[in-house]
Amino acid sequence: MNVELNVETPKTYRGVDALRVLSVRHWTDYTFSFTCERPASFRFRSGEFAMIGLPNGDKPLLRAYSIASPNWHEELEFYSIKVADGPLTSRLQNLAVGDHILIRPKPVGTLVHDALIAGKRLVLFSTGTGIAPFASIIRDPETYEKFETVVLTHTCREVAELDYGKHLFAEIQQDELLSEMVDGRLQLISTTTRENSEHMGRMTDWLRDGRFEAATGAALGAADDRVMICGSMAMLQDHKAICEARGMDEGSNSAPGAFVIEKAFVD
Ligand code: A2P
Repeated sequence: MNVELNVETPKTYRGVDALRVLSVRHWTDYTFSFTCERPASFRFRSGEFAMIGLPNGDKPLLRAYSIASPNWHEELEFYSIKVADGPLTSRLQNLAVGDHILIRPKPVGTLVHDALIAGKRLVLFSTGTGIAPFASIIRDPETYEKFETVVLTHTCREVAELDYGKHLFAEIQQDELLSEMVDGRLQLISTTTRENSEHMGRMTDWLRDGRFEAATGAALGAADDRVMICGSMAMLQDHKAICEARGMDEGSNSAPGAFVIEKAFVD
């Protein structure tokens, strides 16, 4: 894909910064991830999202994307679905190394440590590409300074969609610095709902019928657990209802609480 850019540095397209794509990886027919260069001035908190996109005539076409890399990383990583007729993802999925993506410089979001009160266990519930902000959180040292243990759940329709999370988890175990930081305190639970696999079912069902407690060693509870949730609107509502039923209150940047939610962004 060729993106016409002005020649000044940093590169811009109609006033929006353009960043060079450094790698692209296609995980399934429906998902892919890519990394791009990170300007020194680009600051964010792990778990936040930014507006990214492509040139589109007069006006850049931008959508909200969680930053999947942790805030200490020199590259920015994103994990995206591919929608055949999606205005942005139908084009974004053709990205190649050397292309440029557009980005607005002010990331925001609620899936951040600042929005949670102190706790012992951090539980991250995700479905589909909702795992992206947690790819950032589980690689952030702050996560392991603030919590004794971390549980990441990832539920997808099909087995292949779990690969991104499994690969990330394996990468953390293999990395000398990350594995020392995590020190065996991170657990990944991957489940499918529409294809047979080792662990099956929605995590909301696991929470209700005791499978979550059996798999992690403790039922979800307000005393010790702090929760971040990222998925579809229906998924958020159902997980939120379970958190509230267990006595947790929703947090925000201005008023931290026991759980926080954010919609996984789609085209
Ligand atoms: P299911 O296959 O039972 O619908 P989607 O692509 O629709 O966002 O779904 C991604 C994953 O999230 C699927 O495994 C899906 O399960 C699951 N899911 C969808 N809605 C909910 C919900 N309300 N609560 C928990 N999990 C959900």
